[in-house]
Amino acid sequence: MGLQDRVKRAKKGKIPEHVAIIPDGNGRWAKNHGYERSKGHKKGSEVAENLIEFASHELSIKFMTFYTFSTENWSRPSREVKFLMALLKDFLQKKEFKFMKNNVKLRVIGDLSQLPRKTSMIVKRTVEKTAKNDGLQLVMALNYGGRQEILRATKKIIEGVKEGRTHLSNLSEETFRSKMFAPDIPDPDLLIRTSGEERISNFLLWQVAYTELWFTDTLWPAFAPEHLLDAIFEYQSRERRYGQVKDKERNRQQ
Ligand code: IPE
Ligand code: IPE
Ligand code: MG
Repeated sequence: MGLQDRVKRAKKGKIPEHVAIIPDGNGRWAKNHGYERSKGHKKGSEVAENLIEFASHELSIKFMTFYTFSTENWSRPSREVKFLMALLKDFLQKKEFKFMKNNVKLRVIGDLSQLPRKTSMIVKRTVEKTAKNDGLQLVMALNYGGRQEILRATKKIIEGVKEGRTHLSNLSEETFRSKMFAPDIPDPDLLIRTSGEERISNFLLWQVAYTELWFTDTLWPAFAPEHLLDAIFEYQSRERRYGQVKDKERNRQQ
């Protein structure tokens, strides 16, 4: 079946509203091809761009979150960290026009204060420029860690309690969520991790509580729209129960 036929078939079912991606394997892809790791990152950024376009044009996905740089990625060799920061800056600089054309709204989760000045400037500028776009919301997790996000929320809550704005007795999941980086964005429906690793690596710990997880051996720079469709078909075949019993079982018990 061709790509367009598969898209049509996918659209007959439920399309996930929010797809989160851990785009892993850039380094291994480069190594397999005899390149430096940086070439894998460069190719990976092109793949991300292509996928964003496909997801918004063909599937009308509303939110896509990319794990772009983790709080732990600082411990990579400084040459690689520098390359990644420069790549991000160039990517956003070059894509600003495309984001506007495609109606993409850029959002960021994570602590921008530790990024190189130029990179954080461009990130903030792109976020501001695209703020009124109402197409796909592209969320970049930048210097992001799930534990750090939860800790940060906890600190905000404690401050609120100290200052009398929050009362422990009515502290709810919703109040907690409101202290997250992007509380208005719904939890991911589907999380994709490439490269054969099957772990969360400190990504969206709070938000993935009931997310469907999908893993593939494909390395990120080789990931194509076809693979996103594979993930969506698998997602459509799953039953999300949220701790309840299946509808059929429920009827049988009554
Ligand atoms: C993911 O690819 C990209 C980032 C973490 C920025 P890796 O760089 O982790 O590639 P592998 O896992 O070493 O192959
Ligand atoms: C997760 O990949 C982070 C990003 C893709 C940005 P890593 O390659 O850093 O994760 P681990 O080290 O394999 O867990
Ligand atoms: Mg990796």
